Amino acid sequence: MTQPDLLTSSPARGGRRAGPPPLTRGLPLVGALPYVLKDRLDYLVSTRDELGDLYTIDLGVTRLIALNHPRHAQHVLRDNARNYSKGGPLWDGARGLVGNGLPTSEGDFWLRQRRMIQPEFHRDRLAAMCDLMVQAIDDGMSGFSAAAAAGRPVNAERELPHITMKVILNTMFGSGITKEETAAVGHAFRYANDYILLGLLLRSLPGWVPAPGRRRFEQAVKTIDEHVFRFIAQSRARTGRGGDLLTILLHMVDAETGEQMTDQQLRDEAVSMFIAGYETTSVAVAWALHLLVEHPEVLRALEAEVDAALGDRRPSFADAARLPLTLAAFQEALRLYPPAYWVPRTAVADDEIDGFHIPAGSTVAVMSYVLHRHPDLWESPARFDPGRFTPERARGRHPLSFMPFGVGQRQCVGKEFALLEGQLILARVLQRFRLSAVRGRTPRMDVAATLRTAGGVWLGLEPRPGR
Ligand code: HEM
Repeated sequence: MTQPDLLTSSPARGGRRAGPPPLTRGLPLVGALPYVLKDRLDYLVSTRDELGDLYTIDLGVTRLIALNHPRHAQHVLRDNARNYSKGGPLWDGARGLVGNGLPTSEGDFWLRQRRMIQPEFHRDRLAAMCDLMVQAIDDGMSGFSAAAAAGRPVNAERELPHITMKVILNTMFGSGITKEETAAVGHAFRYANDYILLGLLLRSLPGWVPAPGRRRFEQAVKTIDEHVFRFIAQSRARTGRGGDLLTILLHMVDAETGEQMTDQQLRDEAVSMFIAGYETTSVAVAWALHLLVEHPEVLRALEAEVDAALGDRRPSFADAARLPLTLAAFQEALRLYPPAYWVPRTAVADDEIDGFHIPAGSTVAVMSYVLHRHPDLWESPARFDPGRFTPERARGRHPLSFMPFGVGQRQCVGKEFALLEGQLILARVLQRFRLSAVRGRTPRMDVAATLRTAGGVWLGLEPRPGR
């Protein structure tokens, strides 16, 4: 495998004025949109083969510069990150939902909030949250148990959000949330999250075009607010200090200013954690389960690992280290199907990447999906092979060739949380059920706010004796 010029983006040689990136071919008015809709992200992979690592996608109403190489991620998200802001219609749409929370805030305010929140995701805090996580996983698995008992297949993609939502609600808001509240708030979150992406396209349309779904979006945000402000009030009213994140944030004092967060800031951070953390993880676990049932030899190896490490007891934080193949399978699923399949930014001032001119105001996006399948970085990129993540095989690989959690200052604050959660859900499912593929039910990609499946992830399930 060749790895040319991996670390730096090369400026135009010999003082040449940088030209525009190559443009995707397309139809009048709609550009390449029909191809993107038809072939989804695989269109972007084949376009990279044709046009190279950097090109502009013409979507008719809008244009997007696709960055498909680790050196682009290094440039935009690390070395020149100051020039690439979370501005523009997409991020403004996100602000309509999460307000000024961690994913959308910028500058000093972001830094202050990040400094306060990040320690809550360190190893010792995760160790303390692990029990709550496993409890939530077990509580959320009733759909799997019911299907196994009835001898019918289960759509894991439908069931997993119950688990990941419970995990976030329990760890974020404490465990006193009812099933009805979980359902209502989850529904609203899903709609609002998807609307952000739709909103991006709608905003690019002329103002006289009515924006479908806008009222439903506003209603969803209202529902979310009602619930989250109530959770905050309940937490403030509690005298003891719970171990959940909301209670911790509530008592947090900024070391420099001595200030505490207002209810509005708490709401924005809580909603951000929820939006950033629940569907991403459930989608990733769904893809991992799909890949496992399609590769029975890997599935058997994982079952053997889980049986040897855990038997039938509940996993503890220390057990995570005893499940390396389970973690590797989850990482390999995140490589092939990264839930956050792109990392978009807006160029503040003119710039140059790989010798191409990037005008101020351009929307650029590091395309994690394409980068994770780059043939110069990954051998047989389309193959599911968790062994890639063993330390021996990972050695020598470009550090940014795997970036499902983003890169640089704005890297996912919940990265370790999500990896632990994914590993534990897989282990717990394998401890309790024997899984198999369901014939004729191969999922397709559905490119929504996250990289979902169209048609669900159907699994055959048998309860394992004595579990
Ligand atoms: C498999 C699951 C997950 C994936 C794939 C994922 C992916 C990402 C990515 C790519 C970013 C960077 C976005 C950017 O730079 O524009 C990000 C940021 C973020 N994630 Fe995650 N995430 C996951 C789980 C979680 C969880 C469980 C939480 C919280 C409990 C969380 C909270 C956040 C927050 C707050 C940010 C914004 C950080 C900042 O800008 O300072 N994520 N995530």
